[in-house]
Amino acid sequence: MRSVIDIIDLTPEEIDDMIKTACDIIDNPLKYSEMCKGKKLATLFFEPSTRTRLSFEAAMYELGGNVIGFSEASSSSATKGESVADTAKVISCYADIIAMRHPKEGAPYVASKNATIPVINAGDGGHNHPTQTLADLLTIYREKGRFDNLTIGFCGDLKFGRTVHSLINAMARYTGIKFILISPEELKLPSYVKKNVLMANNIPYVQTTSLEEAMPELDVLYMTRVQGERFFNEEDYLRLRDSYILDLQKLSTAKEDLCIMHPLPRVNEISVAVDNDPRACYFKQVLNGKYMRMALILKLLQEA
Ligand code: NCD
Repeated sequence: MRSVIDIIDLTPEEIDDMIKTACDIIDNPLKYSEMCKGKKLATLFFEPSTRTRLSFEAAMYELGGNVIGFSEASSSSATKGESVADTAKVISCYADIIAMRHPKEGAPYVASKNATIPVINAGDGGHNHPTQTLADLLTIYREKGRFDNLTIGFCGDLKFGRTVHSLINAMARYTGIKFILISPEELKLPSYVKKNVLMANNIPYVQTTSLEEAMPELDVLYMTRVQGERFFNEEDYLRLRDSYILDLQKLSTAKEDLCIMHPLPRVNEISVAVDNDPRACYFKQVLNGKYMRMALILKLLQEA
């Protein structure tokens, strides 16, 4: 059974095909409006979410399918002590495909090993978030027209930011990519990502604490929220949360065609004044996420 737990579970060719499907959905939504008729998506969200869950739900409805599920662990049998493995077996009796978010790294993988239907990782702890990456990739494709020869800056919480880990994994497969990793000392990219992805593939990267210094070089700037819920103490979170705030003044040295991204939710990382700048792409990312989730659901159900 085909599941998507990590973005590299999809080949670059498959991602290209999904981008084609997403673009076709954008142009011809009616063609797709009954493609999942009679199918059910189960959204199992053990951790808070607005975008990802509603995006999956909207995606399934726009394909003519139905949705069942829960939006918090407290309303599931996890509170009674049920294992993820058992939950996955049970939900396989009710639905055709699962989207699971969980605070524990690896939980969707465990679910995929026990389910008899495809499982999509909708975010596992500080680890991975492959469907956000699909949204990010469609955004980069539509804004820049290519995946090669890009300098991409990641700024903020690179330690716990699962969207960063997944997008680095995806972009490391293209040529001419350079990463600039901008974070406070305490929130640097985990060494396992540096070793297994960047060093293993000889990808050039620079680590810095200065957004201002990196700015002129960037084709894409990926801002992130400091992930307070994964910190061990409140004091560190309060000290680090406003480390980087992107405003119009900081953008004065940026390229004219910079693509500014953020997986959202935004707290303080981007001043609202930036929202009207034509380089701001973070709300486009939201819409792109729905189209890529439609393409992914279609693909996995067709292969099942
Ligand atoms: C991200 C996540 O959940 O990791 N949000 C999202 O899915 N768009 C980013 C975040 O919560 O900061």
